[in-house]
Order: sequence, then C-alpha cells, then structure tokens
Amino acid sequence: HPAGAPSADLAKKITKVGIVGAGLMASQFALLFVRKLKVPVVITDIDQARVDKGVTSIRSSIDELQAKGRINADESNRLQALISGTTDIADFSDADWVIEAVFEELQVKRDVFANVERVVSESCVLATNTSSLSVTAIGADLAHPERLVGFHFFNPVAVMPLVEVVNTDVTDEETLSTAMVVAKTLGKSAVITRDAPGFVVNRVLAKLLGEAMHAVETGTPFEVVDRATAPFGLPMTPFELLELVGLTVGAHVLDTHHAAFPDRFFESEALHRLAEHGRIFDRDSKGKRRGFDK
Ligand code: CAA
Repeated sequence: HPAGAPSADLAKKITKVGIVGAGLMASQFALLFVRKLKVPVVITDIDQARVDKGVTSIRSSIDELQAKGRINADESNRLQALISGTTDIADFSDADWVIEAVFEELQVKRDVFANVERVVSESCVLATNTSSLSVTAIGADLAHPERLVGFHFFNPVAVMPLVEVVNTDVTDEETLSTAMVVAKTLGKSAVITRDAPGFVVNRVLAKLLGEAMHAVETGTPFEVVDRATAPFGLPMTPFELLELVGLTVGAHVLDTHHAAFPDRFFESEALHRLAEHGRIFDRDSKGKRRGFDK
C-alpha cells in the first residue's frame, strides 16, 4: 500500500464523533474534537461512573479554558452543549468517525470494534489510538477492515503537534484521506506510518525509556540516570516522560517492543513494579516533582 499523501477530495465530511473510552487520552481528544471539528462528540465507557468521570473532566477543562480567557462564554456554552456521555453504544449509530482509546489489550480493542460495527453505518470511519498494538490485528475480525486506521495522539494531546496516521495493507484511500483531513482540522501535523510495532515515535521512545530503565536495573541509581539524561535538551527526562504517559502504558510499550524485537529492546520488571505503585517521583500539592520516591 503506497504511503503517499492521499487526495483531500476523497475525505468524508465528519458530522458526529463517537469516542470509546473515557480515560486520560480519550477525554483530552474529546475536547480537541469539539473545539476544532465543532461537531457533537459522544463518549462511552463500560459503566456510568467512568462515563461521568470522563464527561466531568472534559467539562472542567472547558471551564478552565474560559477562566484563562482562552474562550469566551458563548464558545464555552457551545462546547459544553456538544459534549455528551452514554453507556449505550447505539448512540453511535449516526456517527461518521469513531475512535477508541481503551485498555491496551488486543482482545479488548477487537471486542470494542465488533460492538461498534454492529451499530454504525458502513461508511463510518473507525480509528484506534493504540500506542503499539498492530492495527491490522485489531481489525482482523471486522466486516469492513478497510475503514480502520490508526490515529495515534501524544500526551498532552492539546500541546503535542503530531498525530501518527497508521495505514494497514487494507486501509482504503478514502479512510486515509479522511484521517489526514481530520488531523489537519484538529490543528495537528500528521504523518502516515506503516503498521509496525511502535509505529515511528514509540519505537524511538521505547529505546530511550527501555535503556534508562535497564541502566537502573543493572545498578545505576534512578537519580543518576535522571540527572545524566536531563542535558539532552528533551523537555523531560525519561522518567518524567514515563510518568506523563502512565507507567502501565509505558511498561506495555516496552513489552510490545521486546516481544517484537527481543534482541533490540528491553522489557522492564522494575517498571511493572513501579506501575503497581503508580509513580516514580514524589510530588507536591501542585504536582511538582520532589526527588525520588524510593
Ligand atoms: N493539557 C493541556 N495543556 C497542557 C498540559 C495538559 N496536560 N500540560 C501542559 N500544557 C500546556 C500548558 O497549558 C502550556 O500552554 P500555554 O503556554 O498555552 O499556557 C504549555 O503546555 C506549556 O506547559 P508548561 O509551561 O506548564 O510546562 P512545560 O513547558 O514544561 O511543558 C510539556 C510541559 C508540554 C508536557 C513538555 O514538558 C513536553 O513537551 N514534554 C514531552 C511530552 C512528550 O514527549 N509526549 C509524548 C509522550 S509519548 C505518548 O504520548 C505516546 C504513547 O503512545 C505513549
């Protein structure tokens, strides 16, 4: 499948967005979709409590934007009205773009899309925000895998300029074209990447994060690795970045790369242990890091 730029003329017009998952990533891009696409966005999750938590977080982000003077009261009201939550996937029946950001497990994502495909129209684009699972494998059981595309955001979604649009061997031109136009409308620069472990960005990041964890596991103290990597000029040290993406997600990214390329990537038992604990750094009430949590 050639990875050339598809013609924007092929792109479908998006009039309603469905988001499966109401967690950290999903809530952030729900906000981006209402702000930039200016269409209704419905989010769903496995229970009402999760849906409510996601919707509340989006609503308070809108309030914060207004409090900071980034949007006026009219805009704030308009955005609030475009956001809704549901536990009933049937509410996605008239969506033309559905994106998922649920737990990074192949079967979970397959089940999500099987349920979505039962209610949406044949022309609805399906997008996955997976960070390192195979998009082809996610779509393997779909009736229409040609309308599935990877659409990989980075955290924090509002700030990071890139989206990786992941093209499988069966993704059709219309889907790819729609994904590129959606990314552009969201104000992101998009690159079309192959469906390979970690795509491009996480492949490179996994190397950095894996080597940093490996240095710790082979005897160099955390604080030494942290200080030694800070002068690289990256906006965060590898450990700060791991906290930002979430330790569970980080551990999963390393596992996926180790499984795909065992001779080139480390998995990290220490990171799995830290993930149970939930954090690496001690933080003050404002979230500023305070040395190491040992
Ligand atoms: N949501 C929305 N906006 C945020 C934000 C968030 N969570 N965090 C920071 N911002 C905004 C701030 O509001 C601020 O915007 P303004 O200038 O308009 O006020 C701007 O970002 C800068 O923030 P700060 O001054 O507070 O802090 P900073 O300059 O230290 O930047 C950072 C913070 C943007 C997170 C920066 O440290 C950074 O770019 N870090 C690297 C992030 C990165 O590499 N992400 C990719 C992770 S990999 C991934 O996500 C993929 C995966 O699959 C695992």
